[in-house]
Amino acid sequence: MKKEIITPAKYLTGGVELPGDKSISHRYAMLAALAEGTSELRHFSAAADCHSTLGCMSALGAEVKTDRDTVRITGRGARGLKSSWRALDAQNSGTTMRLLTGILAGQNFSSKLTGDESLQKRPMKRVIAPLREMGADIRGREDNFAPLEIRGTKLRAIGYKMPMASAQVKSAVLLAGLFADGVTSVTEPSRTRDHTELALEEFGASIEKHGRTIQVHGLAGANGGRELLAKSLDVPGDLSSAVFFIAAASLFPDSNILIHNVGLNPTRTAILDLFASMGASIEITGLKSSHGEVVGDLSVKGSSLKGGVIAGEQIPLVIDELPMLAALAPFTEEGIEIRDAAELRVKESDRIAALAENLRRMGAAVEERPDGLRIAGKSVGTLHAAEIEPRGDHRIAMAFAVAGLAAQGNTVIRDAGCAAVSFPGFFSELNRLAER
Ligand code: S3P
Repeated sequence: MKKEIITPAKYLTGGVELPGDKSISHRYAMLAALAEGTSELRHFSAAADCHSTLGCMSALGAEVKTDRDTVRITGRGARGLKSSWRALDAQNSGTTMRLLTGILAGQNFSSKLTGDESLQKRPMKRVIAPLREMGADIRGREDNFAPLEIRGTKLRAIGYKMPMASAQVKSAVLLAGLFADGVTSVTEPSRTRDHTELALEEFGASIEKHGRTIQVHGLAGANGGRELLAKSLDVPGDLSSAVFFIAAASLFPDSNILIHNVGLNPTRTAILDLFASMGASIEITGLKSSHGEVVGDLSVKGSSLKGGVIAGEQIPLVIDELPMLAALAPFTEEGIEIRDAAELRVKESDRIAALAENLRRMGAAVEERPDGLRIAGKSVGTLHAAEIEPRGDHRIAMAFAVAGLAAQGNTVIRDAGCAAVSFPGFFSELNRLAER
């Protein structure tokens, strides 16, 4: 497997080009496949995860044409998907599997949905349970794991109070709601990313929000509702990918970078507030609205970071950014403590264990807990280079590549190709910006 060697940097400078947002790309691709006509999705994510979604939608009968980062998808309407003779493969992508389960539950054919070794270990009961309440027929290994067998059937609308804050669970139920008679509603215990709601609105579904409850009406054929319409859309840059560059630039006083065209949806920007509260220098310019999403440019300079505690309702809002924050902790004044984040153990890897192991390899002082970590700050000393084992997890590989820029010696990231799951150009972009 391909290694990357990270040599220490003096600072970062220049402009960063991000891949399109992963969460938004998945949703646009799925809804375009359910719409009538050809949608054009520009700056579609280069992430392997989003290409897993494209592969599944194509196997289900949508026509998918890719020209660099523009994807054209021709759907044949909400009732136009066809059964796939082979198993649908979500590969490493939890979002593909969980959201697609919602769509497949309401079709008039059966499907088999599988994924790679990592995805087959991730819990699916969280979507199976509410979909069953809607009448879905879904079977999985130990009633929780892929491969999933989904026998499409007529669904009924439910009012679902989510026991956990999960955008994927919310989305699976709302997408299934498109195929149910009547109005399906989901109430979240705390706010999570709302790209599904915004995308459903863009594609013409009837959707309403009342506080923490979101309601969707069934589509045509189910209760005489609307059809989805093909759209021409621009995907903003992925803030969760930008975070690796924000962190890297912050490490060096002389850094000065500009990150163009970043998605700044308020359900995603808690990470920027957190960075700001720790003393990061981030300026937002050129804010504009794009298809319901907010987009802007970020200018980041180097600064000393204080560290702090991340816990409670903050956790679901920064869940994908926690690996980067943890790897940054040894460079902060006070260190970082992460609590209430047991969910990190069922991501692409057990991220708590992967972070603790690799931080220790670099000489950090780490206390691993069932639901988080406490990592000492810079009083403990500078990190030294080490061989990093990302456990096939893109965000672990990228987080430690950033830490390696400020460590003593050359850091080796084993199996670095896994970064392509969300950011195929990551290492070349990081090397282009790092001055040595
Ligand atoms: C995502 C939701 C989050 C996030 C994941 C992408 C999405 O997962 O961690 O990377 O696109 O809906 P949960 O819904 O499990 O919190």
